[in-house]
Amino acid sequence: MVIGGLATLVPAVAGLLVWMDPLRRRGAGAETGFTRIAPLSALPSDGVPRKFTVLADRVDAWTKTPAAPVGAVYLRRTGERTVEALQTVCPHAGCFVDYRPEAKDFFCPCHNSTFTVDGAINDPKSPSPRPMDTLAVEVRGEEIWVRYQNFQAGQREKHAIS
Ligand code: FES
Repeated sequence: MVIGGLATLVPAVAGLLVWMDPLRRRGAGAETGFTRIAPLSALPSDGVPRKFTVLADRVDAWTKTPAAPVGAVYLRRTGERTVEALQTVCPHAGCFVDYRPEAKDFFCPCHNSTFTVDGAINDPKSPSPRPMDTLAVEVRGEEIWVRYQNFQAGQREKHAIS
């Protein structure tokens, strides 16, 4: 009877642990760390922004996808070893913002918001309720790391949603 009980209990506990794995990981705390984006040498010294895809491990319940594209950022050199990072999603309604090299500004094609090269609202009639969203950035050695986050659109205040 003991052997039979163990033979039933061990697989049942193992199955329960696998089934509960996403909940246990969530309880361990959300991952809000920095992601390596690009080498510092990839940014020109003249302060012109460059767009980079953000790759990160995507974990969805029981599935882990390594180095999957999760978004994009604009990086701009503000000094020899200082960098500014901007979210590429428009704070108005979530369209993607383009950088226009000829105008030296950011432009959202959905409702014509424009932003200066540092992300500030360029036009007082802009429908965007706030400037482009800045992201925390660190230069570690010769690499640029960003804490990639998304933010609620359409709000005057910046609220992170992931
Ligand atoms: S979504 Fe960018 S201006 Fe409306």
